[in-house]
Amino acid sequence: MNFNDNLTGYLPEQRAFASRVQALLKEREVANPKAHIVTFGCQQNVSDSERIKGMLILCGYTLTEEITEADFILFNTCAVRGHAEDRVYGNVGATKKLKQANPNLMVAVCGCMAQQQSVADKFYKSYPYVDIVFGTQQYHRLPEFIYRRMTSKRVYELELDNKEIVENIPISRDGKLKGWLPIMYGCNNFCTYCIVPYVRGRERSRDPQEIIKEATNMIKSGFKEIMLLGQNVNSYGKGESHGVNFAKLLRMINDIEGDFRIRFMTSHPKDCTEELLDAIRDCEKVERHIHLPFQSGSSKILKQMNRRYDREGYLKLIKAARDRMPDVEFTSDIIVGFPGETYEDFCETLTLVKEVKFTSLFTFIYSPREGTPAAVMPDPASREEKGKWFNELLIAQDEISEQLNRSLIGKEMRVLCEEDLGDGVYSGKSEFYSSVTFNGTPEVMGNFVTVRVEKYENNTLYGTIIN
Ligand code: SAH
Ligand code: SF4
Ligand code: F3S
Repeated sequence: MNFNDNLTGYLPEQRAFASRVQALLKEREVANPKAHIVTFGCQQNVSDSERIKGMLILCGYTLTEEITEADFILFNTCAVRGHAEDRVYGNVGATKKLKQANPNLMVAVCGCMAQQQSVADKFYKSYPYVDIVFGTQQYHRLPEFIYRRMTSKRVYELELDNKEIVENIPISRDGKLKGWLPIMYGCNNFCTYCIVPYVRGRERSRDPQEIIKEATNMIKSGFKEIMLLGQNVNSYGKGESHGVNFAKLLRMINDIEGDFRIRFMTSHPKDCTEELLDAIRDCEKVERHIHLPFQSGSSKILKQMNRRYDREGYLKLIKAARDRMPDVEFTSDIIVGFPGETYEDFCETLTLVKEVKFTSLFTFIYSPREGTPAAVMPDPASREEKGKWFNELLIAQDEISEQLNRSLIGKEMRVLCEEDLGDGVYSGKSEFYSSVTFNGTPEVMGNFVTVRVEKYENNTLYGTIIN
């Protein structure tokens, strides 16, 4: 666990609340108070949870993996699809029993799902054992919320004020090798199916110097991979006075000394410029992989999704990237069964997938989100039909993945050794995106090694370390 104790910039009032919480926990004789965090959703939430853990440590808690021994349980939730939400209700409901066993236990719900007024109201009214409900732009106030709950009523704070980003929140990072670095928050795009802009608020970019400071600290403490995060990293810096856009930011981070690698997600095709592709090509530490969600291969559906590019524009972008970097790998998100989508429209998604040849895909069946424009569009295709299309897509992608993987046999790649699989077997990801498994000795763990790919079996690439 890494604990960022550089708290000089963190809000003094929150630091004071954290000290008061510590004192109260002692006063109430909560011996060795423990906190358990459950995170749903995307990397943005995972990254927020690392800061939430940092604040809890500042309040005097230690972290535990065991929910049953916790004195503080927090659910950081996701609202992107119905399925994500359903899981949360069950998890939160199960804390009722735990509270009966431990009267000191506090339960908090935050994140994108809690940000929706109707959901937050439901937690507040129907789940009386939930002590604290707070939204996505209030999480830096967690010490205050805990203090308030310990001394008074339940807490409910949902304000989405889009104010400046609070810096220097303490962080307890989950890993030591690969770390998240949020560069911007929120989204202005309002794709018609998507809840994110409503629950994350408007786009706000962090100051480039803050990002460089965090990246430098991470590299100094041994991180080998930095994942830059944002709902649309390509629009980094828009509307800010510092004049640094995402292409410039990549070059600045690339200039930081050290042996590390830079990844980033998510890129929106509409903001993926030639300047950015040049930067990716020129920066030797930036991976040769672009996660570039296209969502649908049909220009008609893309228009209804408000994605602001068409099939042709997307394919041009892929070509522009491959002209610069022939080996660049692509991954994408796809929605199957957007309202009004026909089998013919879906086939355009299928042909695009076959044409581009993505390394892998994140595929979703459309899930209506209340309050978004798509939720009220006529949606005649049945769930069953959509399921069939979805499976057709998976089968097509499996074939492509297999082909792509076989084409890598004989190639050498620089791999960050991330996982010890036991018995001298290790695995990691290449400078592109593919994962490879190889034999090694313990000192390879956490380091970059050059691996020659030898074979592809059981959906796995196997290689040999050559230095
Ligand atoms: N900002 C990112 C995506 C964030 S959400 C981007 O624009 O690419 C992650 C993915 O969830 C989306 O790319 C989309 O494919 C999927 N998604 C979002 N809303 C959805 C919905 N209502 N139903 C199904 N999938 C959805
Ligand atoms: Fe959602 Fe579109 Fe924003 Fe991505 S770009 S978070 S899909 S609204
Ligand atoms: Fe889910 Fe919120 Fe991320 S809705 S996908 S956790 S931004």
